[in-house]
Amino acid sequence: MVVTYDFINLNGKIKSAFDQAEQISSDGVYILEDRSEKTAYIVFSLKEEVGALAKALKIFENNSVNLLHIESRSSKRLTGQYEFIVEADAGSSSILLTAVDQLRDLTSYLKVIARNHAISRETIPWFPKKIKDLDRFANQILSYGSELDADHPGFTDPVYRARRKQLADIAFYYKHGQPIPRVDYTEEEIKSWGIVFRQLTKLFPTHACKEFNHIFPLLVENCGYREDNIPQLEDISNFLKDVTGFSLRPVAGLLSSRDFLAGLAFRVFHSTQYVRHPSSPLYTPEPDVCHELLGHVPLFADPMFAQFSQEIGLASLGAPDDYIEKLATCYWFTVEFGICRQEGNLRAYGAGLLSSFGELEYCLSGKPELKPFNPEVTGITKYPITEYQPTYFVSESFEDAKDKMIAFAETIPRPFGVRYNAYTQSVEILDSKHQLENLLKNLSSEMKTVVDALRKL
Ligand SMILES: [Fe+2]
Repeated sequence: MVVTYDFINLNGKIKSAFDQAEQISSDGVYILEDRSEKTAYIVFSLKEEVGALAKALKIFENNSVNLLHIESRSSKRLTGQYEFIVEADAGSSSILLTAVDQLRDLTSYLKVIARNHAISRETIPWFPKKIKDLDRFANQILSYGSELDADHPGFTDPVYRARRKQLADIAFYYKHGQPIPRVDYTEEEIKSWGIVFRQLTKLFPTHACKEFNHIFPLLVENCGYREDNIPQLEDISNFLKDVTGFSLRPVAGLLSSRDFLAGLAFRVFHSTQYVRHPSSPLYTPEPDVCHELLGHVPLFADPMFAQFSQEIGLASLGAPDDYIEKLATCYWFTVEFGICRQEGNLRAYGAGLLSSFGELEYCLSGKPELKPFNPEVTGITKYPITEYQPTYFVSESFEDAKDKMIAFAETIPRPFGVRYNAYTQSVEILDSKHQLENLLKNLSSEMKTVVDALRKL
């Protein structure tokens, strides 16, 4: 007799195998990565026949395959059907394969996962597979809106703290697909924004990279970037979606590096919505709306920079903790504090620089140390958070930085590849021959389109 367990109560390993079978969309085929395996998890659905389960179990018995565990649950793939999982232990790999082959005739779905493969997968940290999964991060904030450190300029200001709480709540309750609620900014908040805006726009023409200066006027034109107006996240997000597919999500506080980077894999940038404390408009100990909108947003509208940012995000999915730290450090020295060389001049492209009047001047003053961007070295460089950087890393171009990040991502120990599917806004896990074959088919049809278009030129 087969017992249906509550999904949540499933034994860890079995649940992992069920989940893996779900992630891998190779319906109807079986894959045994290592064919020398003699133990495996077998997930299957039976064709609707009377006594089919008894026949299936008989196959194991006839081949002397030991069943260490058997469970069932309703199938998420095939409506109205059950799905079974058995932990099978055979005397040899050939016996296991024989049993699987015989089982194939009885099943409408069959998936075999070598047990070692399944177990090693359990150590991979969870990561979002669909863009909607980012909703989970709202509950994983490291510090919430109104929780300020004792040295924060707004620490003793109850009005400011209440405002921070109000704006953090917007982010906390936000769900993917909803319009981002508009904020009615106060005169005081607009004044702080205005001071920052006026100072920075003086420096942009001579200090910001050419991509930034190309996009900035478009934000003025389309998103209400003005000294006397704080643009709304919703308008900016819609603008970015049109040009590079990037979008913004409000965030209630600080996210872990792992969660923040995972957002980038989906071309989603988590943005704060509050304004720094009015007592120090040119200083903020944490990211605020001035930093996000003036520093980060413009370059997310540049296709190559958008791709570079997404590469860091994709590299982070399921990566071990030490690699997350390296990726977050690379992010710090590029997306936050990156400098690039353009037509013989050094220009800033990092948001931490482009949103800080003082550091933007300082970073190109010839005083700080400059090193070429190289993820292997950059990723292990220590940095201060509350003062100007003693060292900056210089990229030759966004494309060069992107290629270096891709090469670095290949060194991250992960038993699968990942690919972002923009049609379904989901991350595909590439770990089977079947999937790679499908991917190659898509690529070859795209190549045909390119060749055809080239011929017509
Ligand atoms: Fe930032």
